[in-house]
Amino acid sequence: MEKLDLERLPKHIAIIMDGNGRWAKEQGQDRLFGHYQGVVSVRKVVEAATEIGIQYLTLYAFSTENWDRPQEEVTGLMTLFVDTLAKEVPDLHKNNIKLHFIGNLDMLPNEAKEALSNATRLTAQNTGLTLIIALSYSSRWELVEAAKSLAIQVSKGSLALADINDTVFAENLSTKGFPDPELMIRTSGECRISNFLLYQLAYAELYFTDTRWPAFRKEDLLKALLEYQSRERRFGKTSEQIQID
Ligand code: FPP
Repeated sequence: MEKLDLERLPKHIAIIMDGNGRWAKEQGQDRLFGHYQGVVSVRKVVEAATEIGIQYLTLYAFSTENWDRPQEEVTGLMTLFVDTLAKEVPDLHKNNIKLHFIGNLDMLPNEAKEALSNATRLTAQNTGLTLIIALSYSSRWELVEAAKSLAIQVSKGSLALADINDTVFAENLSTKGFPDPELMIRTSGECRISNFLLYQLAYAELYFTDTRWPAFRKEDLLKALLEYQSRERRFGKTSEQIQID
């Protein structure tokens, strides 16, 4: 922790929480056990992010493609989301954490939809960490929705075609109002983005670790942050330009 440069922290960290199933199998347990242990990691990482002073944390909890998993796992995950929210939201609220959900939330069961909207409403005025949970989310879905929304505005005459730029485009994404993540972490060894925040990650530093999500702890987050701080972020400029800036 003392090696961290607190002046150069990312404002926003995004995490693909991968490896719950493999971790569970390695423990001789079923996949759902891995997801339950994954919630422990969520709690630890949220605590650590708050302590370090991260402002936005986005967690990829369930992708649009995850609907195709065996019915038993999907139902188990939905129950886990609802139960976890019921259990954790009072504490999150006490800690001034603001919850926000992104994704095709219409696809969720009613009970889950209700839990999400209650949690969002309760924590809306909080000013600490903004915790964004991507649920039933995929970036291609989000980009198509943005394109549709822009097309509707243009066809109604409330937006001129010539006024569409990257800022206007970003305002039509579900992450509207949040800064882009500067650091994206994926656990469990896979080195891909898997339909996650494709627009928003344009300049993010990507960090991949072999650690399975249920084993991921504060030390692993600190390692990722130290690696992030060791990188030179050039945004298309030269190294010399960055040093002068
Ligand atoms: C990926 O591991 C993980 C998921 C699809 C679910 C993640 C959900 C949680 C950690 C619960 C979070 C809860 C809240 C309320 C935010 P995997 O199943 O793809 O693992 P595998 O690749 O090893 O099979």
